[in-house]
Amino acid sequence: MADLGGKAPSVRRVESIRYGLGWNRPGWRRAAVAFSRCLLLAAAVCAAQASGGPGHAAIASAHPLATQAGFEILDQGGNAFDAAVAVSAVLAVVEPQSSGIGGGGFWLLRRAADGKTVMLDGRETAPLAARPDMYLDARGEPRPRASLDGALSAGIPGLPAALVRLSKDYGRLPLAQSLTPAIRHAENGFAVGRRYARAAKDREAALRQSPAASAIFLDRGTAPQAGFRLVQKDLAETLRRIARQEHAGFYGGMTARLLVQGVRDGGGIWQAGDLAGYRVVERAPVRGRYRGIRITSAAPPSSGGTVLLEALNILSAYDLDGMDALTRKHLVIEAERRAYRDRDLYLGDPGFVRMPLSRLLSPDYAEGLRVAIRPDRALPSSALSAPQASSSQGDNTTHFSLIDGEGNLVAATLSINNSFGSGFVPPGTGVLLNDEMDDFATAPGKPNAYGLVGGGANAIAPGKRMLSSMSPTFLETQDRTAVLGTPGGSRIISMVLLAVLDFAQGHGAESWVSAGRFHHQYLPDVVEYEPGGLSEEDIRGLESRGHTLKPTGYRYGDMHAVQWDRVRNRLSAASDPRGEGAAAVK
Ligand code: GLY
Repeated sequence: MADLGGKAPSVRRVESIRYGLGWNRPGWRRAAVAFSRCLLLAAAVCAAQASGGPGHAAIASAHPLATQAGFEILDQGGNAFDAAVAVSAVLAVVEPQSSGIGGGGFWLLRRAADGKTVMLDGRETAPLAARPDMYLDARGEPRPRASLDGALSAGIPGLPAALVRLSKDYGRLPLAQSLTPAIRHAENGFAVGRRYARAAKDREAALRQSPAASAIFLDRGTAPQAGFRLVQKDLAETLRRIARQEHAGFYGGMTARLLVQGVRDGGGIWQAGDLAGYRVVERAPVRGRYRGIRITSAAPPSSGGTVLLEALNILSAYDLDGMDALTRKHLVIEAERRAYRDRDLYLGDPGFVRMPLSRLLSPDYAEGLRVAIRPDRALPSSALSAPQASSSQGDNTTHFSLIDGEGNLVAATLSINNSFGSGFVPPGTGVLLNDEMDDFATAPGKPNAYGLVGGGANAIAPGKRMLSSMSPTFLETQDRTAVLGTPGGSRIISMVLLAVLDFAQGHGAESWVSAGRFHHQYLPDVVEYEPGGLSEEDIRGLESRGHTLKPTGYRYGDMHAVQWDRVRNRLSAASDPRGEGAAAVK
């Protein structure tokens, strides 16, 4: 069992336990031990079945302090949903480059007692004064960085509202108790890691433009080194107001006044009504099947689940295990090309656009797409229709996966979009605002920070939620339950797709989080791959089939996953070796 107390846990990456089984007994007692093992295994399975859960908990998150906070709240009698509040809030404090109460996210939930499965949509919304052309100049050209840096790039945050809803409707502890670890880390500070230092260096210029952000996140105006102690007193105060007044502690009263005033002074367009009107939405997740695996994933306004299932539907007719590795990768790329194309064409906020979801997710539609896939040749994206794009990617957003002893599940992907979001903090709040407005099609037909091109379905409108790629996901077979997800902008969906294919091959959580990655998103028409993501043979083979290959030069993603093997009643948890996360079973 991982010791998460105080400092970094002794085993950070992967933990698993087999309940009640002794493995190192003397040989002469082996038969007796084997017999008692069977009894214990049966007892464990019976106990788990009786309670409906594994009897123990597993958490994997992007930061050891967040994983530790989840167990702290479980130890105090909380359930998975209380723990999810604690993990989300601590990530908002200790990983400010990735998520925060100035941002939003999606929490995919399964309540064991009644099987209720729901997606809490805490996505940001466009301010009421937002207009489709708000980031364009008089000639209709995008104003450089207007949707990326500063107060104008921020959508109305959803994360605080989602934490209140999660706690009140699904948790069993008071919100104030679940927020205690986050308030403690904001008040007392913590030592930042290498990822923070790297992201702060990247975003130094934007952070410097906001005096409040610079005072908090930089060290006398300069990006700090790893080990810098980050103390966030204003954020601790804001969290205390949320702990005391719940929703009104952020969306009303003093916090709302400071946020609106700060945003307007910084050149933004928020009004009190934007905050007062923010609502979390409970949505039915998208569901599908792939080779006997039941898949539950994020619904619009995330494109994640839809693109994932469309790609899997295309792949479902192929015997991927029976073919050579190169053809398998080629087909995965061709499936991604088509599913991401439909993302760009059709998807947006369901409150504003009608989407042909049942058609996109139907087997017949997948079959129609499949007939135009050649196993020996890439089809250029230009042959499929739509505008031009270029690529750039951020290393932002965060994810955690959690299962408690009762079998409650949480997969949550949370974001402030690019690293350190907008880089803007309204004075006196400690709240670093997102730059999620860039996830809209800010200039129809032109790419956003991830190279994604959106059309009218994802155009800016007042109160609308911007299209996301975040893909918190559950996978279930007769024997296994998996909870997973990752940050990574538009690459999120292809990373989760590769993890599902790995799960389908019977591999465990450690394999999904660490396997090499490659990605195609329709436009730009290139196959990106991280170092080690494709072999030299793969690269030559894909090029000879007509693909254009592009190395990223760095490893991407930060996947966190837990798995419950229900037959052996064995839990495992794994955090991506690319990151600084912590996974543990307790
Ligand atoms: N901001 C990243 C996403 O929502 O996909």
